[in-house]
Amino acid sequence: SMAEKDGYPHYMAKEIHEQGTVLRSTLKGRLSESGVDLGDDVHWDGDFLRSLRRINLVACGTSYYACLVAERVLERWTSLDVKVDIASEYRYRDVKIGADTLAVFVSQSGETADTLAAQRKVRSLGGRCLGITNVRGSTLAREVHDLLLLKAGPEIGVAATKTFMGQLGALYLLALKLGWERGDLNPVEASRLAYGLLKLPYEVERVLERDGDVKAAAERFCGYDDFLFLGRGFSYPIALEGALKLKEISYVHAEAYAAGEMKHGPIALLEPNVPVMVVIPKDGLYEKTLSNVQEARARKSPIVAVASDGDDLIDQMADWVIRIPRCEECFSPFISVIPLQQFAYHVAQLRGCEIDQPRNLAKSVTVE
Ligand code: G6P
Repeated sequence: SMAEKDGYPHYMAKEIHEQGTVLRSTLKGRLSESGVDLGDDVHWDGDFLRSLRRINLVACGTSYYACLVAERVLERWTSLDVKVDIASEYRYRDVKIGADTLAVFVSQSGETADTLAAQRKVRSLGGRCLGITNVRGSTLAREVHDLLLLKAGPEIGVAATKTFMGQLGALYLLALKLGWERGDLNPVEASRLAYGLLKLPYEVERVLERDGDVKAAAERFCGYDDFLFLGRGFSYPIALEGALKLKEISYVHAEAYAAGEMKHGPIALLEPNVPVMVVIPKDGLYEKTLSNVQEARARKSPIVAVASDGDDLIDQMADWVIRIPRCEECFSPFISVIPLQQFAYHVAQLRGCEIDQPRNLAKSVTVE
């Protein structure tokens, strides 16, 4: 009923709107400008943290894309060697697990069969396992050595939205803790980053208010059947997540590529019926991505850009610009994912799709 959905027509819309609160709750009590405290379910001491050399992140679906974002921030904030894989591959690989390896399993439900199997494999090899999940009583939560819970509340829509936001929050807390307590980050920088993270829930709420702009873009582009999503750096996993959301709920074909890799294949698909959705915040890779936009434009693809406030150059390159507030590069995924979730939602609604329960998909995949 509408009451259960707080007046929103779908759970997905309600859950998108809850993301500021979800992020605030996930950070609450765990982060201050003097340190990170992951709580009583994480049992690490200083010697363990300093002994680490490697970290492996393992997940499926949207949770895997959260891990791809985390890979980038862990590389930036720590000296660890970071690996990320999807659980259905990782569980069958000849991975090397040592006393210097932390394995992190990210699963909204805590019940995804491949993720659970990957965790059991690492345990059998003697590895230390951290679970990040939204469900306290889940199988993953019960089986791991250490547990970090999202505080997202139940997610009903099959397409994950608010739990992705919670996962980003939890993974950034992890990265900051490791960087801070291992001494990879200097304390002044760590404290500055903590402040940046603490401010994010407010910024997320400001972005959510711009939904009307995204809806207008969806009205203009909902008739297309193929999209190419592009991004680099922190925006590459967000392009992947944006394309996944569009596929899942609107059944529109959407492929995502690292912008620099476009010329190695997908550029052959570009023509006026294939819009390019580019995630291009003003960051260190902005000019690089812009040159890929020019290449796509030369093939007459309509360009839709998710770009920063104040970026005037993009107006000359794109057919449509969805604006996001400026923010520090490493925090941009929290901001840029929102218009992509909203875009998928509005396109699905305009195309008359089911939204909360898309065909062929399950909220949690408990068989291999
Ligand atoms: C299914 C859901 C996705 C989710 C994925 C992983 O495919 O439809 O929304 O991202 O499973 O689920 P998990 O619970 O492990 O995060």
